[in-house]
Amino acid sequence: MKFMSRDWMVLSAILILVLMLNTPCSSAISENNENNIKTTVFYSPKIELSPGFISNKVYYDVDFPRGHIALKSFHAELVDESGNSVPLQETYLHHWIVEKYQQPKNVPNNYQTDNIIMVRNSGLCQDNLLGQYYGLGAETRGTKTYIPDPYGVEIGNPEEIPKGYDEKWMINVHAIDTRGVEDRMGCIECKCDLYNVTINAVNGKPLDPNYKGGLGCCPDNGQCRMKKGYFLGPKHIIYLKYTIMWVHWDEYVVPVKIYILDVTDSWKRSNETNGMSIEHNCMVEYLVEACSKSHGCVDVKRASVPIKEGGYIIYSVGHQHVGAIRSTLYGQDGRVICNSYPKYGTGKEAGNEKGYIVAMSACYPKPGSIKLFDGEILKLTTIYNNSMMHTGVMGHFYFLVAEKLAQHHV
Ligand SMILES: *[C@@H]1O[C@H](CO)[C@@H](O)[C@H](O)[C@H]1NC(C)=O
Ligand SMILES: *[C@@H]1O[C@H](CO)[C@@H](O)[C@H](O)[C@H]1NC(C)=O
Ligand SMILES: *[C@@H]1O[C@H](CO)[C@@H](O)[C@H](O)[C@H]1NC(C)=O
Repeated sequence: MKFMSRDWMVLSAILILVLMLNTPCSSAISENNENNIKTTVFYSPKIELSPGFISNKVYYDVDFPRGHIALKSFHAELVDESGNSVPLQETYLHHWIVEKYQQPKNVPNNYQTDNIIMVRNSGLCQDNLLGQYYGLGAETRGTKTYIPDPYGVEIGNPEEIPKGYDEKWMINVHAIDTRGVEDRMGCIECKCDLYNVTINAVNGKPLDPNYKGGLGCCPDNGQCRMKKGYFLGPKHIIYLKYTIMWVHWDEYVVPVKIYILDVTDSWKRSNETNGMSIEHNCMVEYLVEACSKSHGCVDVKRASVPIKEGGYIIYSVGHQHVGAIRSTLYGQDGRVICNSYPKYGTGKEAGNEKGYIVAMSACYPKPGSIKLFDGEILKLTTIYNNSMMHTGVMGHFYFLVAEKLAQHHV
């Protein structure tokens, strides 16, 4: 009898393990490597999608590493219920973003948005726009986010959290199910004439006939036009799987600040009681009109945006959509800070989907080699192939700045 029950216990332990491995659930498993870098895997709440439909939801108080720590990388992708990667031609990942906020302690579960204070990154757009800590789109599987030692994104510093508040995280996932749609590329570019919308989802106003596409035409629960005769297929259940690498905070970690520059930012200086300041006006996305030439069609967009405080660039990467050729971040004197190139897929499998951007190249300058001065005007150029029109494209540049270098780099 004793043996039997022991066997049964071992068996049920294995069974539970197998179940845990098979079902994406939010209980996280952390692993430690020899540099004390921990890796934790999390899953968003489940996302249900029928063919052609959009899910654009915000998940509050998501699972996240807790305590005073430094984030080293953030890798995300869409997976199905068995944890398998979902290819972009089935479900297009338009974007996911991760934002930090503070909230009074002990808020009941059904009052998740009460009294929250958003804590944005270090810049540069107005209000909370592009205030995320992390965020990517279709290119997420192939894009490096790792921050080299000893740098990291500091979070959970008790001195920065007001008394009586908790630090929490929200994730917004915008995914488009393109099974059975008439025009896959049009759907992922949120072209208004493919969607059943009359109200602009971003500003809540009636749709402007001159607005051809973008997030305004890609609302939660919207549906893209289907092929004739395509009947409702099965609902897919997917998750955003996110893998975070992090270390416990100590005096050897050097913090970096997060900036996102938007090529649509038409800022102006404005008068304030405490002196001149800069009023940003980021549009987040823009339209690339089709060119009228037969070849050599290239659309170039430029912005010059000042940053308040300088420092040393540790990491940078561009974010663009299909049609992208390149984006480049320059310093005020014209020196190249980073060229970020899209990589297009060539196959069918997840991570290499033909016609989609499956990676953006990131830059890792030798720490100390690229210094920004206080008030430096950074220049951003984003280039698209405009042999066809592209709606809702983006030209963002994400970069990390250390105010000081690690001791051994000085
Ligand atoms: C489009 O909207 C109309 C009116 O709201 C609705 O009847 C129809 O089912 C919608 N079609 C799709 C494809 O969502
Ligand atoms: C800012 O304020 C000063 C003093 O009030 C004024 O002379 C100047 O014209 C203002 N500049 C702008 C851009 O409004
Ligand atoms: C733009 O795209 C068209 C159509 O795919 C292609 O023929 C052309 O070579 C591309 N141009 C550039 C500059 O990449």
